[in-house]
Amino acid sequence: MKIAQFSRIGFMMAAVGSAVGLGNIWKFPYITGEYGGGAFVLVYLMTVMLVGFTVMIAEMLIGYLGRRDCVANFETLAPRHKQWWKHAGWMGVTSSLVMIYYSVVIGWILNYITVAMIQLPSSVSEAETTFNTMLKQGLGTQIFFHTIAFLITTAVVAKGIKGGIEKFNMVLMPALMLILGVMFVYAFNMDGFSQAFSYMFTPDWSKLTSEAFAVAVGHAFFTLSLGYGAIMIYSASLPKEGNMVHSSLFVIAGDTIIALVAGLVLFTFLFQYGAEPAKGPGLVFISLPAVFFQMGVIGNVFSVLFFLALAFAGLTSAVSLVEPMVQYLIDKYDFSRLKAAIVMGLFFYLFGIVAILSQIEWSAPALTWGGKNFFDWMDYITSSVLLPTAGLAMAIFVGYVIEKERVVSTLKPQMGWFFPVWYFSLRYIAPIALVVVLLNLTGIIKI
Ligand code: PFF
Repeated sequence: MKIAQFSRIGFMMAAVGSAVGLGNIWKFPYITGEYGGGAFVLVYLMTVMLVGFTVMIAEMLIGYLGRRDCVANFETLAPRHKQWWKHAGWMGVTSSLVMIYYSVVIGWILNYITVAMIQLPSSVSEAETTFNTMLKQGLGTQIFFHTIAFLITTAVVAKGIKGGIEKFNMVLMPALMLILGVMFVYAFNMDGFSQAFSYMFTPDWSKLTSEAFAVAVGHAFFTLSLGYGAIMIYSASLPKEGNMVHSSLFVIAGDTIIALVAGLVLFTFLFQYGAEPAKGPGLVFISLPAVFFQMGVIGNVFSVLFFLALAFAGLTSAVSLVEPMVQYLIDKYDFSRLKAAIVMGLFFYLFGIVAILSQIEWSAPALTWGGKNFFDWMDYITSSVLLPTAGLAMAIFVGYVIEKERVVSTLKPQMGWFFPVWYFSLRYIAPIALVVVLLNLTGIIKI
């Protein structure tokens, strides 16, 4: 079955839309603070350029050459052992597993748009109560907003590459950039900006452990949507004349700039009002709402805009998390797009309810194993195990398995002198980095 095509700008927007997500706006700022500020930013940027850029081109190339779903791409491109390689294509499943908890978090954000509109918590302790009540007792609320996330995502995917995903991204991504841009200009003129700047950019080398390195690589993959089949499936719809090198650089630059801007805005607001930069979900769901309250009317407006922007970022990533398996059902089983979107939508919707239940007070014990609840297990399995494994599979596949002439003839015209550097990085640097990350994140070794 032939896959529909994006326009060139549509592809870029959709790929940036996939990359820019919850990972940029809440995760990046807090891991930056935690792992050494400027030192971590440096390591992260190096990782993004050395490993992220290298693997992104490999993932794009597989999609671009294969032009089918993830499983079929590996199968058709492998010169031999097709029946083995096609299993690498199951990386598309990873994205559906991520979507189980991603949709729940988008639901929290949608809920917070209403919290921001109705009544912001007036202090950090009140904000903590609001968040924990939602998390541990708000079954109905969470299911309600998770349902909205499910309906929007499924409807967009059902409308297809051009009429759904491309259009959605072409509207939401500029809106997101505009909102963040306005908030950045405002933050730039506040006293807290310089403190935020030094918090994010002053290197503290003592915090730069090997764990920080593993976290940087893991986050680079997550934030760039690498190893989930999302970039691969979008690249299967990249117009033939599209340039993978330019596209990757555009995605990486867009993703990094948005993460840095979001971090500066968040920390400026927090420091300006003397709040502690909390870790994890607490950063945007606890510290920030309390600070918005203190900012008065402008805080009210900003809080609604901020959660809207976060929802936009989440939803444009969500559609790319659903698309790989939708394309697989269409390609392999001849499903109509509508049917495939509904089947995959119901998959993440129903398991999403399990993820919600796994944090609700009365049902959590039954859905917790080995110290992790279902929600945390989904996160752990996808980001610590499946993701680096898929990255490794792609690096080996493009670096060693596909015929070299094919890789050269497609990429050399786009890369010129840089081709040997990229190829070297793909064959040696990326696999080593990924093996180290895999062993480190799964706790097999701690270096
Ligand atoms: N890149 C997204 C983020 O930073 O939130 C998450 C993501 C989207 C990961 C799509 C993987 C993916 F396929």
